[in-house]
Amino acid sequence: MQLHFAPLQGYTTALYRRLHHTMWGGIDYYYTPFVRIEKESFRRRDLADISPENNKEIPTIPQMLPRDADELRRITQLFLSQGYTCADINMGCPFPPIALHKRGSGLLPHVSMVEDLLAATKEFPEMKFSIKMRLGWQSTDEWKHLIDILNATPLTHVTIHPRIGQQQYKGDICYEAFEQLASRCSHPIIYNGDLCTPQDVEHILQQYNFLTGIMIGRGLLARPYLSLWLNNIRQYDPHSIICHTQLFHDKLFEALQQTSQGNSQLMQRAHALWEYFLPHAPRKLRKNVIKSSSPTQYMHATDTLFDTWANDTETYPL
Ligand SMILES: Cc1cc2nc3c(=O)[nH]c(=O)nc-3n(C[C@H](O)[C@H](O)[C@H](O)COP(=O)(O)O)c2cc1C
Repeated sequence: MQLHFAPLQGYTTALYRRLHHTMWGGIDYYYTPFVRIEKESFRRRDLADISPENNKEIPTIPQMLPRDADELRRITQLFLSQGYTCADINMGCPFPPIALHKRGSGLLPHVSMVEDLLAATKEFPEMKFSIKMRLGWQSTDEWKHLIDILNATPLTHVTIHPRIGQQQYKGDICYEAFEQLASRCSHPIIYNGDLCTPQDVEHILQQYNFLTGIMIGRGLLARPYLSLWLNNIRQYDPHSIICHTQLFHDKLFEALQQTSQGNSQLMQRAHALWEYFLPHAPRKLRKNVIKSSSPTQYMHATDTLFDTWANDTETYPL
């Protein structure tokens, strides 16, 4: 069973991926957040994020957000020039500024656009493509118009997040449509969505024994050690996991310090990290972290949180 770390724009940066890979491991593939063409060129931070020197020895699949065949060609050429032989195509992004411009999940209702886009993948036999998609933009039926096109395209796998674009990341997952799509798709299937604990994963694997793998995003941001558990690596007791999580956090924060311009940007970025990180940590102490207004206060609050938690994992389970 493959374990894929989902791309999360603003979170799973090259630095984050490298730290996770070296400190926790257990992930088969890390995806980069999407690379897109903006005002006819690539964003500098995207180029840095996919550069081979920033991804050394990490199993990385770069992701693209093309709107048409021409953009797909340009981004594929970029990935090839950086030495990649796999590329993921984003057909799931739900953010209205993107989707309303017919990118991400906004592409799904436009059958002939998808057909042209995917036809262009055949011009690059040296590249292995995969797709990450939703069921549709406005309705859970839109995939039905695309299934023949998907099946006619050589793909290593299709990752399915069984919501529609308009739901963003909330609301009910449509398992029924997922099952229908999976049963009609001739490619290996990776399931993605709301997997937060080993129990969630176990349940989905029991339900769907045809899966080639699962992809986890927010669940891994919340519990970076989840990949250890899912690989049945249990040599760490809860106390050691918290200590290791503290080390992981401190290294992330150190990197933010080195790359932020001023304390205000640093604090903004550090607080953003806690939007998903350790929601199950002791509540009051977590609040102190989020309310801290200087790096010194922040480090004091995080040290207190980790120390207290490490000594009371029974009250606050991992
Ligand atoms: C802040 C944020 C950024 C995301 N960025 C991307 C992205 O760059 N590319 C992509 O395909 N999906 C992106 N996603 C979607 C995730 O990869 C994933 O599909 C989604 O979070 C559902 O999986 P989960 O429930 O395991 O988190 C993003 C999601 C969030 C919350």
